[in-house]
Amino acid sequence: MSDAPRPGEIALHKDPAEQPPDCGLVFIGRIETPWEDRHACPRRGAGSDTICTVQVDEQFAEGLKSLESCSHLILLYWMHEARRDLIVQAPAFDSVTHGCFALRSPVRPNPIALSVVELVAIEGRTLSVRGLDCINGTPLIDIKPYFAANDCVPEASVGWHKDRTHPERRSKDL
Ligand SMILES: C[S@@+](CC[C@H](N)C(=O)[O-])C[C@H]1O[C@@H](n2cnc3c(N)ncnc32)[C@H](O)[C@@H]1O
Repeated sequence: MSDAPRPGEIALHKDPAEQPPDCGLVFIGRIETPWEDRHACPRRGAGSDTICTVQVDEQFAEGLKSLESCSHLILLYWMHEARRDLIVQAPAFDSVTHGCFALRSPVRPNPIALSVVELVAIEGRTLSVRGLDCINGTPLIDIKPYFAANDCVPEASVGWHKDRTHPERRSKDL
């Protein structure tokens, strides 16, 4: 697949290999999934029934205390194989371009992803969860409890997505 920008796209750098240095994040574990490349992943975790495994590193084990009482979690992870230079993007399902901050694309200056997952089981530092969409080996940044009362906004809307010109097309980069 070509890295060349599509018509209307704007890249921050001429050379996609030219990436800014990472900040001082500490990865707290890895996510194990059946998907070895981004094309094999579900477009987004919501709706995926596949049970994936989150392995938390030993030094953070105590941070898992009480997590077993949570039914759903927010996972933040680092899309380590994403390019980071496309600031305006042309999703396959729209004839209009959009800024990366209006998209859930992994392609963004800081490739941080989030998913709300169901916690199926927890054994030691191993979490079994349902609802992920990432490549096997994706680094884990953080785990938070999902509070339905605070985190759910039923009336929220994304206008450009409702008005997209090619809803029948699927893209890996929404
Ligand atoms: C559209 S993004 C959504 C990510 C997250 N659920 C979010 O909303 O922030 C999911 C897609 O990112 C791609 N992807 C998954 N893991 C990746 C990784 N480690 N590096 C780069 N791209 C990845 C796959 O194409 C996957 O379908």
